[in-house]
Amino acid sequence: MSAVVVMGSQWGDEGKGKIVDYLAQQADTVVRYQGGSNAGHTVTVNGEEYKLRLLPSGILYKGTLCVIANGVVVDPQVMLEEMDAMEKRGIDVSGIRLSNRAHVVLPYHSLMDGLNEELRGKGKIGTTKRGIGPCYMDKDHRIGIRVCDLMDKEEFAKRLKENLALKNIELERMYNHAPLDYEEILTEYEGYAERLRPYVCDTISLLNDELAAGKKILFEGAQATMLDIDYGTYPYVTASHPVSGGIGVGAGVAPNRLDKIIGVVKAYCTRVGEGPFPTEQLNAIGEKIRDAGHEYGTVTGRPRRTGWLDAFVVRYAGLLSGIDYMAITRLDILDGFDEIKMCTGYKYEGKLLNEIPASLKVLAKVEPVYETFKGWKKNISGVRRYEDLPKEAQVYLTRLAEVTGICLGIVSVGPNRDQTIILDDKMF
Ligand code: GDP
Ligand code: IMO
Ligand code: MG
Repeated sequence: MSAVVVMGSQWGDEGKGKIVDYLAQQADTVVRYQGGSNAGHTVTVNGEEYKLRLLPSGILYKGTLCVIANGVVVDPQVMLEEMDAMEKRGIDVSGIRLSNRAHVVLPYHSLMDGLNEELRGKGKIGTTKRGIGPCYMDKDHRIGIRVCDLMDKEEFAKRLKENLALKNIELERMYNHAPLDYEEILTEYEGYAERLRPYVCDTISLLNDELAAGKKILFEGAQATMLDIDYGTYPYVTASHPVSGGIGVGAGVAPNRLDKIIGVVKAYCTRVGEGPFPTEQLNAIGEKIRDAGHEYGTVTGRPRRTGWLDAFVVRYAGLLSGIDYMAITRLDILDGFDEIKMCTGYKYEGKLLNEIPASLKVLAKVEPVYETFKGWKKNISGVRRYEDLPKEAQVYLTRLAEVTGICLGIVSVGPNRDQTIILDDKMF
């Protein structure tokens, strides 16, 4: 297979980084196609943790190209900090390629992200405050500044001046905030431009040439289906398209070039930020999941909301992205549970629903239909073959495959590379 997608099937933090890092052993190139530094992908190698926000999770392999494609919004400061941190740990970053069409996150984006959340008060989205929404807003508003503009000293100075004039009016009048200083941002970003220049290129031709040459490309989704701006629990979503369809627009690789889509599915559910979460457990079970899984955000450190696996959501993710295989992660976190539940559908006003409701009012009132499974009560972190998993765990996974109609491809039983069970080695 030459083009494989790894994307989130729930509300994010499924373990996409781990799965991408595992599959990247065989990849020539790993590509981020949407989102920005709101992502927090943790990769663990030999017990060492690497937290990635903008850099693709292929960075730990020498010689692998790591592409940040046009659909990503790039905060140059975060990107350079990440690159420096990697280099300090002896990781080679020369394989990074940054799209000249990617949009640049500027200081007013992150500032306004936070101010806007404050202004919304109770109605806040619970964003990561990384300027993601405001940067995509400027893109759609057609005033965004792209990497190619940043690389052109004159163009950048001109565009920054124009934009900052508008943003400062907004800051002062709408948010009652002091204006930002033009010269300060200009100097800061001119410095970033010079450091990033060697990595900038046209990633569209790069990726399409690679495919034509038979190279193996891995697309790494950030966020997840239920945070997709069209398909998620709008407005409690991010501002981009994590679904596989996001690759066409976010990386310039046509849909018919994609060979396999892998949906990462955490063995239970978590969500950070506000918005509906039908299987949330606001009780001792939720706390037990949070404790067992150390469920705290990578980017913001916020405690993640926790609940049972929602197979109805995974089925929806499968339909939307054409998921061929599920990569189940964190199955080991359920080791200590006597009983495990899985939501197989929603009821609304006593009737089973065929689809995920668009209306949040309806979604807030749905009643998850649960099936209960016996826990395996064994430490599975050392298991390396599917047939060696306890029968109870196999029953749970088989039922998930039945409800979602998606094959099992990978089962992960720990954060390390070797804690990975492959069910079908034709996947990549
Ligand atoms: P991502 O945003 O989808 O990449 O996921 P995060 O990195 O935010 O959160 C997943 C966390 O689970 C990370 O700390 C991973 O190291 C860890 N992880 C991934 N797979 C497994 C697994 O199978 N078992 C356990 N215990 N941890 C895992
Ligand atoms: P990874 O890639 C989980 C959530 C935020 C908030 C909403 C909008 O690590 O899975 P934003 O800053 O994007 O405007 O916030 O989306 N969110 C994530 N939740 N994992 C992520 O990324 C997320 N990125 C954004 O918490 O609810
Ligand atoms: Mg994460």
